Formats: sequence, structure tokens, C-alpha cells
Amino acid sequence: MKAVKVKENIYWVGVKDWNLTEFHGYATPHGSTYNSYLINDEKIALIDGVKHYLSLEQIDRIKDVVDLSKIDYLVVNHVEQDHSGNIPELIKLAPQITIVTNSAGKMALEAHFDTEGWNFQIIKTGDSLKLGKHSLTFVTTPLLHWPDSMMSYCPEEKILFSNDGFGQHYCTNTIWAGEANFGMVCEEAKSYYANILFPYGMQAQKALSTANELNLDIEMIAPSHGCIWNGKEEVSWIVSHYAKWAAAENNGSAVVVYDTMWGATAKLADTITSVFQDAGVPVVKRCLSNKHISEVMADILEAKYVAIGTPTLNNEIFPRVAAFVTYLKGLAPKNKKGFAFGSYGWRPGVVNKIQAVMEELKWETIAPFEEKYTPKSDVLEKLKEHAKTILE
Ligand code: FEO
Repeated sequence: MKAVKVKENIYWVGVKDWNLTEFHGYATPHGSTYNSYLINDEKIALIDGVKHYLSLEQIDRIKDVVDLSKIDYLVVNHVEQDHSGNIPELIKLAPQITIVTNSAGKMALEAHFDTEGWNFQIIKTGDSLKLGKHSLTFVTTPLLHWPDSMMSYCPEEKILFSNDGFGQHYCTNTIWAGEANFGMVCEEAKSYYANILFPYGMQAQKALSTANELNLDIEMIAPSHGCIWNGKEEVSWIVSHYAKWAAAENNGSAVVVYDTMWGATAKLADTITSVFQDAGVPVVKRCLSNKHISEVMADILEAKYVAIGTPTLNNEIFPRVAAFVTYLKGLAPKNKKGFAFGSYGWRPGVVNKIQAVMEELKWETIAPFEEKYTPKSDVLEKLKEHAKTILE
């Protein structure tokens, strides 16, 4: 695949990681891309590197447009290695390049690589880099999701090069969201927010308000993963959803997530699910033996109610549920109503550990519910009555 023209003299020179199934613990069933863009003007700027093992592919694509020796700038929007892994190789082949990044970006590059002899130009929010007919204005977005994260805006073409923000782990034949399966692009954008940016809602809100303060008129968002949002309608879809997610708005739905050893916790999960169904609350039931924790996080993003169930194994939370709860705690969803439930054999109490995490997340909760061995019909009736109180 050759370099793809994005606008006159702006090209996609990224790479496609078709077979990626996992991204630091996040399941990526549709692969991913590491997008990089080249602005070919009086001064030539490359925006972002790629993962080290796809370096040659990016370099070949750049060579479709310009010789590496002609590149003046490499804009480093973010130093996580899916965007910086091949920078040492790029600099080796093109030592004339000046790296344009913020001070946290320079520090992160120095902490990852031997940067001796590298040229740096340090920028801050509002600074511009003139390339000729095009320019880039920078907006630092600290902790969205690393201290070094930033975005670059080209006012002449109204393009925001947003790095991880607005991205999707989605690999398809086109670079355009409008030419891809748009529903899938949106689902993967939601999953990306839930699994990468969930803890940083405040920073996302700040980035959106900085973009407003700087009067950025955005007609295209070119992220570093997945497809490009092109045109006001697509841009407005993703920006309005980010605003909702960052504000921790919910859509009134419920998620019942659990695992089971001998079917007891599954019976409890069935009963709780039916309570939501009977009340007209949209609900999904997810058993962690066949749903990856990152898929469940995408369900939780817009949910109002989250019920988490576990069997007791060796006086502990069942391992797949424990992994989920640890993941949940780190991603720290806000404004949920929680319900911990489970089953035990001879020692009760493990559900209290899930309850404690919900309290730490400052969720509103109802009392946990647990049952010894297999729940009988009278216990399920009792559970039903108790579960209904979460709707009050
Ligand atoms: Fe796509 Fe935070 O790296």
C-alpha cells in the first residue's frame, strides 16, 4: 500500500497491524494501525513514529513521497512506544531531523532512548511551527493519557492530528471512517475511550475546552490509531461522544458481570439480569469465561448500573473476576450504582472485597448479597426483591 493522500501535500504514511490481538492487556480483535502523517511543504514535517517492528513499512511509505534526507521535523505528539518505537531508526537514517515536542515529551524520549546528538525544538500550547503554506499549532494535553501527550492542529486545512485521542484499535483497508464499517469504527472508538482514557475524563474535558478557547475550527480529526474522522458530521459525532464520556454521563443501562464455578453465581446473575429486564432497563449479562475484561469495560462506559458477581475460591475472589475488578479499579469509572453478589461454600465474605472497590470508586451501592452453595428458589426470590432496590 502506497502513501495515501489526505489533503494536497498531506499524506498518511502510517502502518497497519492487521494481526494485533492484544494491546497491553486490551483485547484488539480487529487489529490496529499506527498512523503517521507527512506534510510536504517548503519545510517537511513527519507527525509521529510507529511501532518498532513496522518501521520499514513506514519508511517505505515515506519514500513514496520524499527522501528521508529531506525531512526537517518529526513532531512527537506522544512517546508511548507504539508511536515512538522506530524513532531511533528514523534519526539514524535522517540525523538532520529536529524533533518537535513539549518538555515532558523530551524527558520521556530521553528516558526511553539514547538521545545523544538528537536535535530538539520544545513547544508549549499555542506555539506554531511554520512549514510554508501549512503550519502546525500545538495543544498539550497532559495526562490524556501520558504527561507528554499533545495534539497538533493544521489551521490551513482544519485538521487536528490528535494522536491517541479519538482513536480506535481498528485495522481496515481504508484510512477513512466514512469508507469503513462506520458502526464498527464508532464501537471501537468507544472501546478505546473505555480502556485507555477512562481515568482521564477531567483532562479530556480540559482538552476540549482548550480547543474551544483557541477557536480551533476542526473539519478533520486524524488520530494515531484507526480511521480518520472526515467532515463536520463525523467530527461532531466523535467530539460530542467524548464530551459525554468525559462528563461520565450514562444512558440508564445495566451490566451484570460475573464468573461461575458450578453455576451458583450464574443463577444469581440470571436473577439480577431479569430484574433489570422486567423493569425495562437495557441490560447485558457478561460471563468472564467468554468475555474479555476490555469488552466488558466498553459496556460499562455508558452504563448506570454495574452488578459484579463472584464465586469464592480459596477464600478469595475468583481469579477472572479479581482481574476484572483490578482493571476496573484502575480505569476508575464514575457515577455508577453498584451491586456486589456471589456464592461461597463454607466461608462467607468475599463479596465485601468487591463492595470495598465500589466504595473506593465512590459508587452508590446497595448491600452485597451472597449465598451458600446453590441458591434455591426462595433465595432467588429474596435476591429479586433486594436487587430491585438498586433502581430506587
Ligand atoms: Fe497509542 Fe498511548 O499510545
